[in-house]
Amino acid sequence: MAAPSAAFVQCRYGVALHARAWLVPRPRLRMTPVDFVIAPDAEGAAAAAAGVLVELARRGGHVALAGGSTPRRAYELAAELEPDWSRVDIWLGDERCVSPDDERSNLRLVRETLLARLDRQPTVHPVHTELDAVDAAAAYDEALRGVVLELALLGLGDDGHTASLFPGSPALDERDRLAVSADPGLAPWVERVTMTLPMLFAARQIVFLVVGNAKAESAHRAFVSEPSVQIPASLVRFRKGPTTAILDRAAASSIGRDDSALSSPDA
Ligand code: 6PG
Repeated sequence: MAAPSAAFVQCRYGVALHARAWLVPRPRLRMTPVDFVIAPDAEGAAAAAAGVLVELARRGGHVALAGGSTPRRAYELAAELEPDWSRVDIWLGDERCVSPDDERSNLRLVRETLLARLDRQPTVHPVHTELDAVDAAAAYDEALRGVVLELALLGLGDDGHTASLFPGSPALDERDRLAVSADPGLAPWVERVTMTLPMLFAARQIVFLVVGNAKAESAHRAFVSEPSVQIPASLVRFRKGPTTAILDRAAASSIGRDDSALSSPDA
């Protein structure tokens, strides 16, 4: 892939960067520190994330929702707290290329845990998984043109991936498209469509929701260690806007911060 034009990069990110080039010694890149919200347990973390979603639902705007298993409880709580999502446009940070009724579908997750419990529906922008992955990604890229996310809710894989941006994936080099197709790096072993770094970088707010011991090491590498293309979630720290990591105590066990900072979702 041709290196993006200096002017493009300069105006957008304020520093010249290219995913691989991040490893080449250069003047220290500006990184935005991650704000931690540490909850005593998974329920507390879900409640904190639900609070962020409800605030967005009341304010209105475009939101990218995470897939996987972790956000399930947060979506349920958010629907309970705020049944009117009519001011919201819902996008998916990534999708598995399966039918919307497939149990691996992120749209199905959102439908069952959030949409089915709302009185007033948001506008939902699904990935057209009836198309092949490349065409579905091209359609999603087109649909995302001009969209600025008020919030991107992201998860974190044990391997440090986020959305479907897997370690060392060519998708990490994408500088122009806002969504691309991607090969799975972990189960479910189906093709994916994922938002790219430029799309996520431009989000006004990024919030990670991460729970469980299995994520402790990847949480430390994503939010504390030196960013690397081997830990895609760590790369969002190069963006200007705020990034928050909502963790439960187990996932935060390698971060070295206590959980006294958070007693309830409103703390
Ligand atoms: C997906 C997700 C992915 C997820 C992580 C964590 O489609 O799989 O968007 O990025 O957030 O894999 O998944 P869990 O929450 O299931 O651990």
